[in-house]
Amino acid sequence: MLRTAVLVSGGGTNLQAILDAKAAGQIPHTEISLVIASNSTAYALERAKKAGVPGCVVQKEKGETIEAYGERLLNVLRENQIDLCVLAGFLTILPANVIKAYDHRILNIHPSLIPSFCGKGFYGLKVHEAALNYGVKVTGATVHFVNEIPDGGEIIAQKAVYIQDGDTPEILQRRVMEEAEWKLLPAALEQVAQKLTEESLTK
Ligand code: GAR
Repeated sequence: MLRTAVLVSGGGTNLQAILDAKAAGQIPHTEISLVIASNSTAYALERAKKAGVPGCVVQKEKGETIEAYGERLLNVLRENQIDLCVLAGFLTILPANVIKAYDHRILNIHPSLIPSFCGKGFYGLKVHEAALNYGVKVTGATVHFVNEIPDGGEIIAQKAVYIQDGDTPEILQRRVMEEAEWKLLPAALEQVAQKLTEESLTK
């Protein structure tokens, strides 16, 4: 089983979806080994605790270079023998040294159909505000590999969600989570983990 770290910054509903899918036997190729939060107030840490998964905080300090922060993060990942990372609402941009060390081994969930409403500055409710302001009729969620371009890595899975009359950013955010994110992320994680496991067996 691949040792997986889930990186979080906030409420952690996507982390919960992964933990629930794991408990239901839907992600057999991974073990959820660690939750890393970018801040100590992330409710996601409570969810990890309840599920019996170790949690820790790795916060970028003021004045710390992005490389030094990346080294600290890498040390935590290596100490815990992490094979695979999932960014589940993780709002700190990952340093290049981490991305390089985990090439095609970091997944991110983004709450739109990439390449729409993505890239620097598009996170959380801002994404749904932008979709509603533009007037698109369909939005959704995307799981992709993380590379050096924000939201620019290879797409793994996408799911469309219809916009409805009267949608607010909050209502739309909830529908995108329920109809897309919470299903898409655990399924994409299993897909990647299964492929990596098969590849390592044939080596
Ligand atoms: C999710 O909607 C996720 O897609 C989004 O933040 C939310 C986190 O919620 N991520 C981004 O916008 C990344 N650009 P959660 O903490 O409840 O999973």
